[in-house]
Formats: sequence, C-alpha cells, structure tokens
Amino acid sequence: MNAKCLPPPFRADFYQLDDVGLWLSPPTDTEAASLGQALAATEPWARYGTRADSLTSLIRPASDGGIRLALRLQKHGAPIGVMAIRHPWLTGPYLQFLAVQPGFQRQGYGHAVLNWFEREARQDGARNLWICAATFNIEAQRLYQLVGFEPVIVLDDLIKPNFDEVLMRKRLTPSDS
Ligand SMILES: CC(C)(COP(=O)(O)OP(=O)(O)OC[C@H]1O[C@@H](n2cnc3c(N)ncnc32)[C@H](O)[C@@H]1OP(=O)(O)O)[C@@H](O)C(=O)NCCC(=O)NCCS
Repeated sequence: MNAKCLPPPFRADFYQLDDVGLWLSPPTDTEAASLGQALAATEPWARYGTRADSLTSLIRPASDGGIRLALRLQKHGAPIGVMAIRHPWLTGPYLQFLAVQPGFQRQGYGHAVLNWFEREARQDGARNLWICAATFNIEAQRLYQLVGFEPVIVLDDLIKPNFDEVLMRKRLTPSDS
C-alpha cells in the first residue's frame, strides 16, 4: 500500500493481532453501554464507585479526539474488552483506559494489546508510552512493568479523594537521543 494511504496511528477501521487472535475496532454505542454496565461492577471501578454511565461516556465513540477500540475474538464479535487512547499526548500516546472482561483475563490479551500499542506508537515516531494505574491495582502495574513501563510519579487524589494513581512511562528512545 502507498504510504500516503496509511491511516493515522491508532485510527484504522480495524486491527488484527494474529498472535492472539484478537481484532480491534471501535465499539458501537450499544456495545459501549453494555461494557460500561458490566465494568462498573468490576475492579478497579467498583472500588472507586464509578457509575456505569461515566464508564460508558469514556468508552463510547465521541468526537472529543479520543480513540476507542473494542477487543474482539472475531472481526464482528462481541467485545471482550475495550481501550481508550489519547494520541498525541506527551510526545507519545496515553493509554487512558484498558479493560479485559473478567472471563477473558490472564490469557495474554492485555499483553498483546500493549505490544500493539507500542508498535503503532513507534511507527509514528513516538518517544514515550504513558499509562496510569491505581496504586492498589498491583496486577495491572506488574503487567505494565513486565512490558517495560516504569513508575514516574504518584498522583494523589487524582480520580477521587484518597485514591492515588501511579503514572507510568515507557521510553521508546534512549534518554540521550
Ligand atoms: C490489567 C488487564 C488489562 C490485563 O489484561 P489481561 O488480558 O488479563 O493480561 P495478560 O493475560 O496479558 O497478562 C496478565 C497476567 O496473566 C498472565 N498470563 C498471560 N497469559 C496467560 C495464560 N495463558 N495462562 C495464565 N496466565 C497467563 C500474564 O503472565 C500476566 O501475569 P502476571 O501479571 O503475573 O505477570 C486485565 O486484567 C483487566 O482488565 N483488569 C481489570 C481492569 C484493570 O485493572 N485495568 C487496568 C486499569 S489501569
């Protein structure tokens, strides 16, 4: 394909992650509402007390510059997870939201999505990847560290009082370049 025809980073109609049999494409409004409802009952959002409609607003298609992609096991299959991306953010993209539904966790989908996120960012010449996790969300932080993210700073009371988030960064270029 002519390079001029390539879609902007993260904005293709769909992506296929062959290694884990995953498809990524935007959720519909109906899918976003159903994901919002289901995820509000799970950690970490249940612990925050995040309402289903707030989650739905974060993950449904919107013209606010955010990129939303559902994770699917078939091209047009029901979502097994969802993510939201901000790009460009801070000389690289910010993975604002990532969730794999409980029945599909620990099967390598999160890892595969993080690898894809990095590949897309590198193709766009990004210098960094960014992600946040609740300080109590040790499982997510462990996965992010496994793929090369490092904690940068703890942001206290970021989402609500008494809940702290750790901002994590993965450098894509050496610090002296
Ligand atoms: C955090 C999250 C996105 C990770 O997604 P995931 O698909 O479960 O992640 P993976 O399966 O790639 O890896 C998670 C763990 O499963 C392990 N794993 C991967 N494939 C596996 C397999 N086939 N069998 C058993 N374990 C496996 C990984 O080694 C990893 O273990 P570790 O953390 O002990 O190293 C997901 O668990 C989730 O949505 N959690 C709830 C919401 C959340 O916390 N979101 C992040 C907010 S910051």
